[in-house]
Amino acid sequence: MVVGILQVRGGRPLNGTIRVRGAKNLVSKAMVAALLTEETSVLRNVPLIRDVDVVSELLRLHGAEVDYDQDAGTVRITPGQLHLPDPGQVDALAGSSRIPILFCGPLLHRLGEAFIPDLGGCHIGDRPVDFHLQVLEDFGAQRDAQELGLHLVAPQGLVARKVHLPYPSVGATEQTLLAAVRARGITELTGAAVEPEIMDLIAILQKMGALITVDTDRTIHIEGVARLNGYTHTALPDRIEAGSWACAALATGGDITVVGAKQDSMMNFLNVYRKVGGQFEITDEAIRFWHPGTPLTSLPLETDVHPGFMTDWQQPMVVALTQAEGVSVVHETVYENRFGFTKALNQMGARIQVYRECLGSKKCRFGLQNFYHSAVIQGPTPLHGADIEVPDLRGGFSHLIAALAASGESRVSGIDIINRGYEHFMQKLAALNADVTRLS
Ligand code: EPU
Repeated sequence: MVVGILQVRGGRPLNGTIRVRGAKNLVSKAMVAALLTEETSVLRNVPLIRDVDVVSELLRLHGAEVDYDQDAGTVRITPGQLHLPDPGQVDALAGSSRIPILFCGPLLHRLGEAFIPDLGGCHIGDRPVDFHLQVLEDFGAQRDAQELGLHLVAPQGLVARKVHLPYPSVGATEQTLLAAVRARGITELTGAAVEPEIMDLIAILQKMGALITVDTDRTIHIEGVARLNGYTHTALPDRIEAGSWACAALATGGDITVVGAKQDSMMNFLNVYRKVGGQFEITDEAIRFWHPGTPLTSLPLETDVHPGFMTDWQQPMVVALTQAEGVSVVHETVYENRFGFTKALNQMGARIQVYRECLGSKKCRFGLQNFYHSAVIQGPTPLHGADIEVPDLRGGFSHLIAALAASGESRVSGIDIINRGYEHFMQKLAALNADVTRLS
């Protein structure tokens, strides 16, 4: 039986004020970085989301002390004495996260060995880890396949190397940073991802005593140091969550003030929002997003690595585009399989067709490879309620927005996955005057 079923009576605007805290995609990495030292680290602005629970549990399994004050949003991590836990325990937790692979660098430094379980995370494509493994191997780690995953050892310690990433992968850039900060020698990383969450991780590593230089051409130099100290840091806000609520305002004809949202990491999103016809107002504390009451405008859109339009904004924006006048064309260039969620939207009355071709100005890695990675959205189409099942984190939130925008009643199943990345989303829906009831 599917649990986490939400009954949604849609068709009314979401209005009100909500707050976002630290970025899911920084917080988990910052918690792993704490393992690079024996000293205590303190991370602030930490949201209560499932991913934080998973990483806390993983850290505890390795012997670290982790205290999370949910109301204050503060995590204290003391990784004094570490050990490699039983692979079965890591594997049991890993089903819901891709973070364990980032434990490798710190564990190889601290223990000389690490274990990578078969990885989970959202099913939005193959999501291989070849770049990660290559980086670790280049740094001198040897791996051995075991029943539940890979065991790695680095008997001589990690040694800095030139690393080139064939694609600016966020995770592989973080892997390189976490391995290089305490490796012997200087690492030159080219083809690096430069997402704001990565810059915040670099800021944390610098606080810990690391020597890192970021050039303008996706090149990062890391000068290895023998030891690092603990850090105190306030995580940057979650721009994906902020963008998701902004799209919810647009799709439902509402008006949402997102306290904690910051302009600097959302420039590209704000440009697109404005072009579609959405209105926003920026203050030091918040960004207010609202539907203007006049028709929205269709547009061509391509997702890309930073500073492009993030892939994680794509799904909620597509829901808003179903309400825009004319034809929008969205080309997904980061993941090969991120339009599965449009099926449910079509069931609700949207007119979205997906294509294998690159429908955009950029030729991407997925062109002519049988991946449905472009979408054509014809709008505006009134949406009507339906019974839908949540596919993954961002797709799931987008289904929820669609149900809230739709007239009539929807049942959205599997909503608990949304807790992985959206803090207190049920309370936030209530604060925005959504008409929802949890059925199971
Ligand atoms: N890739 C490879 N080989 C690798 C690693 C990545 O081919 O070894 C490919 C992936 O298959 C994908 C592309 O490179 O096509 C980009 O993947 P990337 O490594 O950048 O993604 P990630 O680190 O696994 C993080 C976020 C994702 C976000 C992406 C892109 C976390 C925990 N996850 O994933 O967030 O979409 O970067 O910005 O930081 C989410 O929050 O819902 C989410 C999926």
